[in-house]
Amino acid sequence: MSQGDSTLLLKPVLLVFGTVLAAILVVFAVNGAIAFVGGPSDAPAAAGGGGGEVRELPGTWNGSKWYSEELREQEFQYRNETAGKEVKFVPKEMNNSTLPENPNRRELIREGRSIFANTSNEMPNHVGNNLSCANCHGGGDLPTTTGMVGQDINLIPLVGTAAGYPEWTGRTQRMRDMRQRIMGCFLRSMNSPGAPDGVPAYDSREIQAMESYMVWLNKGTPSETVPYWRHLEKPEGDEKVPVSEINPVRGAELYLENCASCHGADGQGIEGQYPAVWGEGSFNDGAGMGRVYTSAAFIREAMPYGAAHTFADWEDSQDVAGYMNAHMRPHLPRQPKDWAVAGAPDEAIYYNRTQQRLGYDMNPMTKKLMLAGIPIDDTPLEESMIPDNVERYEQPLKDEEVDGSWETTWIRTYEDVGNSTAEGSGNQTQSSMSTQDAVTTAFEGEQSEASSETAS
Ligand code: HEC
Ligand code: HEC
Repeated sequence: MSQGDSTLLLKPVLLVFGTVLAAILVVFAVNGAIAFVGGPSDAPAAAGGGGGEVRELPGTWNGSKWYSEELREQEFQYRNETAGKEVKFVPKEMNNSTLPENPNRRELIREGRSIFANTSNEMPNHVGNNLSCANCHGGGDLPTTTGMVGQDINLIPLVGTAAGYPEWTGRTQRMRDMRQRIMGCFLRSMNSPGAPDGVPAYDSREIQAMESYMVWLNKGTPSETVPYWRHLEKPEGDEKVPVSEINPVRGAELYLENCASCHGADGQGIEGQYPAVWGEGSFNDGAGMGRVYTSAAFIREAMPYGAAHTFADWEDSQDVAGYMNAHMRPHLPRQPKDWAVAGAPDEAIYYNRTQQRLGYDMNPMTKKLMLAGIPIDDTPLEESMIPDNVERYEQPLKDEEVDGSWETTWIRTYEDVGNSTAEGSGNQTQSSMSTQDAVTTAFEGEQSEASSETAS
């Protein structure tokens, strides 16, 4: 899967955006700081259709949050590489001039990049699915991607975010650092508990390498400002569809039209090209992407890959997110300990406590698919499976009976691998115990009360 150097610079998204943005930049250079107010015709990706009018941030904007209410009222919808005046989004290539002098640190950063890009291949004993960090954070080593890991403004960029750590998390009244944050991502997004050695240890070489890469990504961004591209823009106010009214059956239709060509009608993707969106190879049911508003935000900002911002309608993205997160996935046993104090949010539809609070006996999205007779496992979805009365599934349908419980979506990857009761030498057992402790710490700190801060 190694990539030629040219692919480091060019990829489909940049080809589409790049031409337009380059033109805009030239205009800037000539005319100085003229406010760029992106009207509909300036929206580079809207050409793909379906997105309606797409407006990006004005060039003169600067501040700590681009999705402030004020900007939303002016209908600015997406981040834009050129938007910040004082804090710019500047992806950089990895070479001798951008890397530190010290050869050991260089090596560690390169290693970190390579783990981000090919996580399940590089760390098979610690990854319990087929994902890589780059599948959600962008720029991995897939044939279609750039290799500039974590530096795609549409895919949860990690540029300049290391400066935000250690950060205070109100829920558990403690600080968490960068490494603990990364470990939390392994625990959830990478389903490490389903891998032979579980979550990598706090002081392991791999975690240090990934931390180093994050620090490298941070160089060049002023540390006193939260960069405007940090965090997904989740639906708010009117944009939000109440969880029980999200329609995953309509989502199934939209999925077939907009997603199945890459991720497969069975949701399993294609190895080495497109990641799985549910099932054993996917993130577990405690992951941020398993939450319906978080995943809707991601889908709206990042997908369909190469044509981001064309799937712009909030209702569409929530319905598709509901469909995706109606499916079976690896189960995270420590779920009940999540949000022990604050209470699990509505969007955490895989959580028993949320389901109960909303009056369901299972994931509401799962229930609706089962009522419609649409598979929730990796059986390929076919057009003919989608019933005619799609609107029916906008109703909460709480009291309808289906054959299942809140455990219906669980894929149990734990029992088979005996994580915390590892066989083998005493040493291993000990280190796996202390890993568990570290994980608890990493994870406890994970969900902060601020709604914009979400867990990986
Ligand atoms: C043109 C192919 C393509 C289409 C169409 C597409 N995706 Fe993706 N998707 C990708 C690729 C490639 C990645 C990984 C990006 C990377 O590694 O940099 C991805 C990543 C994802 C991820 C995060 C990783 C994972 O597997 O959990 C989700 C979720 C996702 N896509 C959902 C969707 C949804 C929902 C749609 C339809 C609205 C969609 N995608 C349409 C190619 C596509
Ligand atoms: C299935 C998708 C997915 C995968 C895979 C994934 N993440 Fe994330 N990650 C997320 C989401 C969603 C967020 C929260 C985004 C937000 O803040 O709005 C996030 C947030 C983060 C953050 C916090 C960013 C910040 O601004 O503070 C870090 C660091 C991070 N992830 C690292 C990783 C690492 C390291 C891996 C691989 C071990 C990984 N992620 C794998 C989805 C994913």
